[in-house]
Amino acid sequence: MVLQEIAIKNFFLTLSKWNFEIDFEMNQIDDCRIIQLPRITDPRGNLSFIEGGRHIPFDIKRVYYLYDVPGGADRGSHAHKNLQQFIIAMSGSFDVNLDDGKNKQRFHLNRSYYGLYVCPMMWRKLDNFSSGAVCLVLASDYYDESDYIRDYDEFLKLAGMQRT
Ligand code: TYD
Repeated sequence: MVLQEIAIKNFFLTLSKWNFEIDFEMNQIDDCRIIQLPRITDPRGNLSFIEGGRHIPFDIKRVYYLYDVPGGADRGSHAHKNLQQFIIAMSGSFDVNLDDGKNKQRFHLNRSYYGLYVCPMMWRKLDNFSSGAVCLVLASDYYDESDYIRDYDEFLKLAGMQRT
């Protein structure tokens, strides 16, 4: 390989490393938090609302929900490289177990007027679903399988790289 080709190859290697580093922002469990939503109480029934970028720290691009979860089942068990999510128990209750590769925390969700903000690079497992529970998830981006980390060892490796 001539010197010029080597220089070009090294340039692109450096560029891809740099891109990798900016994609993965520093995310720790303390960045995840319960957010209380506005609540308009009324004898006819209560009302809550969520405005993207105002009540939660991202614009909402996608909404999905889990329902008819059988007793004892769990969901999740993956992390996202860049996706931000806000999780609400619209009905019933369940637990969200978060793990940033160093620290772990369990959140019990059981009201529709608050939710859990989950930042990127957070391993999550949802379990302990009550019967009839409905889990609503607001997401910062469209579905993209390449944003998932589904292997826990790979997650630990990437989370560790973030900290160095
Ligand atoms: P997944 O996020 O893996 O759910 P869980 O971790 O709780 O099992 O999604 C399960 C399946 O649903 C997977 O095949 C991808 C698909 N899916 C979509 O097509 N669009 C979506 O918005 C979501 C969340 C999942």
